[in-house]
Amino acid sequence: MRIAVANNKGGAGKTTAIAHLAEALAARGRRVLAVDLDPQANLSRRLGYGEADLTEMVTAAEVVAANQKGCAADAVVGCRWTLPADPDLAARIDLVPARYDLEARVAEAGQLGSHERLDVALTGVAEDYDVTLLDCPPSLGHLTQLGLAAADTVVLVLRPEYDHLQGAIRVRDFVAAYRRHLGRPELAVSGVIVNEHDRRRGLHAWHTDSVAETFGGLVWSPPVPSRAVLAEAIDAAQPLRARGAPARPLVEIFSTLADQLEVRLDAAV
Ligand SMILES: Nc1ncnc2c1ncn2[C@@H]1O[C@H](COP(=O)(O)OP(=O)(O)OP(=O)(O)O)[C@@H](O)[C@H]1O
Ligand SMILES: [Mg+2]
Repeated sequence: MRIAVANNKGGAGKTTAIAHLAEALAARGRRVLAVDLDPQANLSRRLGYGEADLTEMVTAAEVVAANQKGCAADAVVGCRWTLPADPDLAARIDLVPARYDLEARVAEAGQLGSHERLDVALTGVAEDYDVTLLDCPPSLGHLTQLGLAAADTVVLVLRPEYDHLQGAIRVRDFVAAYRRHLGRPELAVSGVIVNEHDRRRGLHAWHTDSVAETFGGLVWSPPVPSRAVLAEAIDAAQPLRARGAPARPLVEIFSTLADQLEVRLDAAV
């Protein structure tokens, strides 16, 4: 199953959700392909590939330009996390990395059928994995459209704040309005992850209610709390399991969110 993770608002936690859902799924034996569709290449770095590495690599930029069936295979690399307690975890996560020049593909958006190029590239490749997670940039432009056109479903990530909720609603409405044009007439939002929830902020409690009113049963629980240990794992490009006892509650939370993803997986079979 291919899942586009999106919000038309930056800094919501899309990349964080992908990295640590991938971790949770891999920990239970699932094979995960993470596809970086953001020229910021944050997901690529968090799975172990910094800017210097990426210069030499085949990335989503070349894969989309090639527009050949299955050519994403040329870009697939392994996750570089090291985790002595579970050395096989990282081996179950693969990555199609991105580089800053993925932005150049945007200029080709006007070419007929160009939005289908990632879907074509992943054909016969994504099938080797239980889950493919597509990390969209915080826009509704061509790179996100490539992700949506290659996706079976959409998961939104937001902070319980006004601009984040609006960004998530725009994605939902964009999908509803354009799914036929994207060649995915069935595409819809199937999950909403609330991130950086801070119980001490009244605002967050209030907006958590608006998120529930807007998205109803699509909201996955629990919300991911705002925690320094998560920001530290992100910064150090490590799995949560490498951060010891302080990260354990977050390991549990991402595992519970992964359960909700698995329900969609099982329903899709
Ligand atoms: N639950 C959390 N607790 C603490 N810090 C967090 C949490 N989630 C995200 N962050 C912080 O917020 C930053 C942005 O998160 P992330 O990169 O996942 O967002 P994004 O939606 O992918 O952003 P972009 O729109 O730029 O792609 C992270 O670098 C991290 O420092
Ligand atoms: Mg991101």
